[in-house]
Amino acid sequence: MFELCASILAADPENLARDVQAAETAGVDAFHIDIMDGRFVPAVSFDTRVVRAMRSMTKKPLDVHLMVDRPLNYIEELADLGVESISVHYEVPGGAEPALKAIRATGLKAGLVLNPETSINAALPYLEQIDQLLLMTVHPGHGGQAYLSGSNEKITAARTMTQILGSSVVIQVDGGINSKTLPGAYKAGARSIVAGSAVFCENIQQNVSRLQSKLDLE
Ligand code: DX5
Ligand code: ZN
Repeated sequence: MFELCASILAADPENLARDVQAAETAGVDAFHIDIMDGRFVPAVSFDTRVVRAMRSMTKKPLDVHLMVDRPLNYIEELADLGVESISVHYEVPGGAEPALKAIRATGLKAGLVLNPETSINAALPYLEQIDQLLLMTVHPGHGGQAYLSGSNEKITAARTMTQILGSSVVIQVDGGINSKTLPGAYKAGARSIVAGSAVFCENIQQNVSRLQSKLDLE
């Protein structure tokens, strides 16, 4: 089992509905929406208005990645908008726990995100409170970066940790995924794969087929 989540950060903002439709037709499993506030990361990206627009464009699950200083402020609105899952960074000021609890209280799937420099051990106390563990395989804030070396080892470590503990938490990866890096991430144990530029640049149908074929070989 794996899922391919298309990160709309790389979609054409002037033709978002067209690109979303193309990705859906091509067979992506979900859409990943990056919310950045210009504080947790220097960049500003989508806000909840884009989530609302996305909800009207597709029935596929919406997976929200919060790169914001105050994730708690977003949970209720996102739940009302009908997203499927919300992921919060371990590194947020004050820690991720209040937001994770709020996400679970709404009945949505909760995700904890670890930056590349954060150790897997940081996730240990949270495993009971989350459904997915999102490992950043680039530094957060921009699309189109190269997959960081050492990422596969980190995925393996996370997979080993969840297996030893009998945890059903799904390991998700985000950043630098393309047809070359995807097989390694999958083999290491990632089962939810976020890809932005590898889905939306040029021919979306061909891109999605290429990524899926890499996984079908496994
Ligand atoms: C980066 C974002 C990613 C981004 C991935 O901070 O969290 O979701 O869209 O883009 P690619 O797949 O192009 O590396
Ligand atoms: Zn993301």
